[in-house]
Amino acid sequence: MRHLDEIAEPGAPERAVLNRIDPDRLPRHVAVIMDGNGRWAKARRRPRVEGHRAGIQSVREIIDTSSRLGIEILTLYAFSTENWKRPRYEVITLMALLKEYLRKELHTFLENNLRFRTIGRLDRLDASVRKELDHALEATARCTGPLVQIALNYSGRQELTDLVRQAAAAAERGELRAEAIDEEWIGRHLDTGGIPDPDLLIRTSGEQRISNFLLWQLAYTEIYFTPVLWPDFRKIHLLEAILDYQQRERRFGGLSPEEQGVFMPTGDVRAGT
Ligand code: FPP
Repeated sequence: MRHLDEIAEPGAPERAVLNRIDPDRLPRHVAVIMDGNGRWAKARRRPRVEGHRAGIQSVREIIDTSSRLGIEILTLYAFSTENWKRPRYEVITLMALLKEYLRKELHTFLENNLRFRTIGRLDRLDASVRKELDHALEATARCTGPLVQIALNYSGRQELTDLVRQAAAAAERGELRAEAIDEEWIGRHLDTGGIPDPDLLIRTSGEQRISNFLLWQLAYTEIYFTPVLWPDFRKIHLLEAILDYQQRERRFGGLSPEEQGVFMPTGDVRAGT
């Protein structure tokens, strides 16, 4: 974690929350379902796409704050496979905003040594979007700092379906034995292969769903729902989410250290949560 003054100014409301965060127990990987752009725009009687445009400022601030905090991985759900069902104008604008963002922010990634990566099926994206993504991937390839992952044309079920197909094809070619497939193998072959699962998932706008995001990877993730709409989501909201996360006890299906040593009468069956 950088010096506190580089994250929030002394006396600012953000600083009061930051002071309560334990730098030694930060989530390594934070994933975000950025939701509520349309409602933000509607409340201002503006077109939905204005909500997406405003949401980019939140993207910038959350990437900046999380990297200053020392969060190793940030995964942002920018476009799901279901989002193609939206009006054509909205899809085109979202793609244009993504390209504009990549062009304008590439220098920020490089200056801050941020790694960039995408998850999802890029093949369905327009060639001009893929070109911009490829450029950003190549340009940041030597960066060694925090990883920013953007989920584009992503679906958790699609990711798992692709994986099963890939495994079946390898088995048919005689290159994969059924016994070789275990949780570790699956984790390695997902789009997120090689990186730890999210510790914290944040969903904005008050909706309480996973919406086909990282279905395998979220098995033990702490989930934080906030009513704040994505374009209003700022540094203080991220800090509050992290503080809330730190106040939880993660048991990964086991018992807390205190419970571990305590005698439990027979018949006390507790489901792991
Ligand atoms: C959900 O709000 C948001 C999206 C589908 C797109 C998120 C995209 C951005 C924040 C901008 C581009 C992203 C990057 C990474 C540059 P919604 O439209 O579903 O809101 P609603 O539920 O209120 O209608």
